[in-house]
Amino acid sequence: MRTELSFTFPAAIATELLAVFARDTQPEKSAKPAPMLLTEDSAVQAAASAVLASGEFKAGANETLLIHAPNGLAARRLLIVGLGKQAKVTAHSVRNAAGTAVRSAKPRGIRELALILPSGESHAMARAVAEGALIGDFDPDTYRSDRKDQSIQSFTLVVPSDADRAAIEAAFAEGVTVGESQNLARTLVNEPGNKLTPAILGQCAAQMARQVGLACEVHSTEKLHELKMGAFWSVAQGSAEPPALIVLRYAPHDVTDGPILGLVGKGITFDTGGISIKPAENMERMKYDMAGGAAMIGAMRAIALLQPKVRVIAIVCAAENMPSGAAQKPGDVQTAMPIAPDKPGKTIEVINTDAEGRLVLADGLTYARRLGATHLIDAATLTGAISVALGKITGGVFSNDDATYARFDSALQSSGEKFWRLPLGDEYADLIKSDIGDIKNTGGRFGGAITAAEFLHHFAEDTPWIHLDIAGIAWVEDARPFIAKGPSGAGVRSILEWVRSFAT
Ligand code: BES
Ligand code: MN
Ligand code: ZN
Repeated sequence: MRTELSFTFPAAIATELLAVFARDTQPEKSAKPAPMLLTEDSAVQAAASAVLASGEFKAGANETLLIHAPNGLAARRLLIVGLGKQAKVTAHSVRNAAGTAVRSAKPRGIRELALILPSGESHAMARAVAEGALIGDFDPDTYRSDRKDQSIQSFTLVVPSDADRAAIEAAFAEGVTVGESQNLARTLVNEPGNKLTPAILGQCAAQMARQVGLACEVHSTEKLHELKMGAFWSVAQGSAEPPALIVLRYAPHDVTDGPILGLVGKGITFDTGGISIKPAENMERMKYDMAGGAAMIGAMRAIALLQPKVRVIAIVCAAENMPSGAAQKPGDVQTAMPIAPDKPGKTIEVINTDAEGRLVLADGLTYARRLGATHLIDAATLTGAISVALGKITGGVFSNDDATYARFDSALQSSGEKFWRLPLGDEYADLIKSDIGDIKNTGGRFGGAITAAEFLHHFAEDTPWIHLDIAGIAWVEDARPFIAKGPSGAGVRSILEWVRSFAT
């Protein structure tokens, strides 16, 4: 998708589709909606006045209305997109509405559109529009043989001429970078297990790294043994596909001290459950069990391009969880990577081979600390229990450090993603004590997302750490007006903003 800014009058823009936002200014819920068009352009207002007066269009969130051959406009169509009942326009409603505009154009075969930035709105809106447009442009039908690439070829943001051009330009470019990076994560998540093996995920990360100037190493079996990654290897050992330990590094030249952020992603390219095999129903969904790893790869792309002044290391632990003659068995005891060469690794009793995410992350977290990470963030499609708690709407977040969590909470303000903090605690940690070793990899039916987090806590220890359980939100189950059904790219924007909060 080509993106550009225009500072001309909206009425003069010759485009297939000109989109404009409207909000409902009626504060009371039950009262008749009072839609207001968010442009100062009198020609656009005139073209829309009759339909707005009719009451047919209520300016509900992501509600659309299309006018063909609008009077007095050079555009062939005028699309009005609702922002909902709002006292004032928010970046989040604008992000979605921009996506809605793009997704209204695509099925009509429209390849080119222009969207009017609400007047008097800050550069945060321009950024949100770019993000929303890119996110809306993504469709998952990669392997349809009759696929006609319906991507929008050109998207123009029409900016009021009195706006601060430089600031808007920078924010818009930033939004494009973020949206593209989120779409990179979605592209990876969308790939099926046969097309995206751990090694291929490693190649994709390396390719992205080359394109944006990041350092990247991709290791496999030998390195896992060398580093004594017994937990990670225990998952990989059952598969014919070798694991990939992906390490991406971002180090700005002039930053030699301060924090080193460690991003750790679960990269299970397919999760059968292993010997504790999953039921057949819906098992195909388990191709998205690398969404945490993909989020880190997407976030690293954005970091490399936006250049915050802070050092970042990303580690993706990629493996397939398969049953086979070589697979680990329930009851097996594994020794995780030690935090120092002269220390013993923690021992793990594997109760359920389907609780594999925490096993690979255990060694990923330790490795990040060994590489010098002072702060950690992990993302994983870790538990079904998180969707029982929060549904498929909100992700789970856990932290051992309130100050580090506060940064994440602020990151959510600008990312617009939904996460809810759940507790950690010794009483939960007690549930994963093992009779035979240090810890076991499941904690029973209740509080499953929390006991999984407590398992990871054993490896983050007292390094300030954020854990994101994105199992419920990594896949959009039902299409929305602004996003396709399929991979969501959840986490990318919030992880990026959390990283940027550390920049000097
Ligand atoms: N990858 C799954 C979690 C998952 C479930 C992600 C549904 C997305 C949608 C994870 O590896 C898993 O199998 N977790 C088990 C843990 C249990 C065995 C303790 C679960 O949640 O059932
Ligand atoms: Mn599993
Ligand atoms: Zn899994």
